[in-house]
Amino acid sequence: MIKQATPATIAEAAALLRAGELVAFPTETVYGLGADATNRAAVEKIYAAKGRPGHNPLIAHVASVEQAEALVHFDARAWTIAETLWPGPITLLLPAKQNNGLSPIATAGLPNITVRIPAHPIAMQLLQMVEKPVVAPSANLSGGISPTTANHVARSLGDKVPLILAGGASTVGLESTILDLTQQQAAILRPGAIGIDELEPLIGEVVYYTPSGETVTAPGQLSRHYATETPLRLNAVDIKEGEAFLAFGNTAFIGAAGVGFAHDMDPGRFRNLSPEGDLHQAATHLYAALHELDQAGAKAIAVQRIPETGLGLAINDRLRRAAVPKG
Ligand code: TXA
Ligand code: MG
Repeated sequence: MIKQATPATIAEAAALLRAGELVAFPTETVYGLGADATNRAAVEKIYAAKGRPGHNPLIAHVASVEQAEALVHFDARAWTIAETLWPGPITLLLPAKQNNGLSPIATAGLPNITVRIPAHPIAMQLLQMVEKPVVAPSANLSGGISPTTANHVARSLGDKVPLILAGGASTVGLESTILDLTQQQAAILRPGAIGIDELEPLIGEVVYYTPSGETVTAPGQLSRHYATETPLRLNAVDIKEGEAFLAFGNTAFIGAAGVGFAHDMDPGRFRNLSPEGDLHQAATHLYAALHELDQAGAKAIAVQRIPETGLGLAINDRLRRAAVPKG
């Protein structure tokens, strides 16, 4: 059930979480499906609701650096990032502390744990009231498009979550950057709104990142994720018969079979992530546009090329995974 976030409904959500129930809540990146990270039965409900494989670990969300420090060992780099960028859309992978209290199934029994402090007033109030770490994957069925509104959550998990706190559309629109600080070389495991350009000067070292697809030596090695039911066709330079169109930037010269040009298409089959070519705006709108075009009954969704720079790295990472054929 969707309820608008108010002091009363946030308190209700905190009580549900403390009682071992699931609650979906907004963050600045995407909506999360939360459970008390210290309660095994509660965490199991996340895996069951999402249909998520049990070997895929979860991010612990906390309200303060002190809470994060009870879970993991911080090094100098982690301190700098935590002090500068938290609350914010970056998750740190750090060595787990002994007796951290998390249920082993929350972390898939791994020696390293991911933690983040979300920059969203509703998430923050909720975490402060729960007073425990809350694991929260994106609030969608495993493999599907991530939710950036409460309605997106209701559509995929509505019958499985007792409470969905509504707090408007997520402003970042893509999942947090995941930075691995367990090795000497810092490495991005998942690109997001906070990129290498921001991280390198901050910690004074090189940050490594290998885009998805580049290490893949055989098709199928990149797993399907963030996926629409309708197939995606990336780097499209024209629109074929029966296709919908996910545009980015200038579409003046994009031809569309049957109608002439892309701008003459049925508006229900056309979304432009950012007519001005702004990557932040494109990230914010990406998942909502995919949700909408997926319901247009198109044969495929043609996607215009998006530059492989800055936030474009994160957007293209999601699109490449979403384009992996069903199989
Ligand atoms: O923005 C976000 O991070 C959102 C919001 C709700 O906070 N959450 C999110 O969670 O995207 P999820 O579960 O959809 O993605 C978490 C990713 C998964 O790819 C998981 O494999 C990886 O983080 N991960 C979590 N813990 C890990 C660990 N201990 N070692 C390696 N990877 C880990
Ligand atoms: Mg997810």
